[in-house]
Amino acid sequence: MTTAVTTPETKSGGPRHVAIIMDGNGRWAQSRGQPRLFGHHAGVKRVKEIVRASPDHGVKYLTVFAFSTENWKRTQVEVSGLMKLFRRYIQSEARDLLAEGVRVRFIGDRLQLDAKLRKVMDEIELLTSKNDRVHLTVALNYGGRDEVARATKRLAIEVAAGRIDPHSVDETTLARFLDTCFLPDPDLVIRTSGEARISNFLLWQSAYAEYEFINTLWPDFSAAEFATVLAGFGRRERRFGAVSA
Ligand code: IPE
Ligand code: IPE
Ligand code: MG
Repeated sequence: MTTAVTTPETKSGGPRHVAIIMDGNGRWAQSRGQPRLFGHHAGVKRVKEIVRASPDHGVKYLTVFAFSTENWKRTQVEVSGLMKLFRRYIQSEARDLLAEGVRVRFIGDRLQLDAKLRKVMDEIELLTSKNDRVHLTVALNYGGRDEVARATKRLAIEVAAGRIDPHSVDETTLARFLDTCFLPDPDLVIRTSGEARISNFLLWQSAYAEYEFINTLWPDFSAAEFATVLAGFGRRERRFGAVSA
């Protein structure tokens, strides 16, 4: 079976969809003798700068990992602090995001999030739904395996109801049930903080992504460093299993 692999890069050779594992907030804070939440506050501010820089580099889709399905294992203080930070940040940034042409969407299992947070998530998605300059997707309570399991469950329900022929199920069918059904696959996945692992991020979607693991801690990641990483992507040869031309 063959699957059409798209090559969605921009004309300049840069990535069209960049996904970022924003890691290192805790270490950034601890190295300053501050509590971990101090680092999360600093980290959230960085998102805006990277969103703003994206269109200048032809990045149409930016997906950021904000909270994983495994991050519930952290202390109650950190988890509830993060949830409050997400809610406040979404509320305080809504106006600017709307004005700057950013379409905001979320991936992950939102049913496990508290009602107040879900409400502001729904509101900003609706508010920015007509925007098309840059698409910001926030992975919140997201896990790649959880996403595939939830997609499979929904697909199984359709099959059981007789609406999908089980023999017709292929990669495209499953992809339609993923949270990311509205997104192209990421071309480039960046992880900050020096860890070289994917921690359950976009497992299915990153099959042919390029990876950049950089040492900078997320609160120190600047638009200038973003530009450098994007320039490096342009020098890579993506073969998608084929042989060089
Ligand atoms: C990433 O920073 C943000 C979240 C996971 C919410 P960390 O909080 O993982 O920071 P480190 O890795 O402990 O430094
Ligand atoms: C991945 O970072 C999740 C986010 C950035 C939101 P973690 O800090 O949770 O990953 P591990 O635990 O180091 O693998
Ligand atoms: Mg971490």
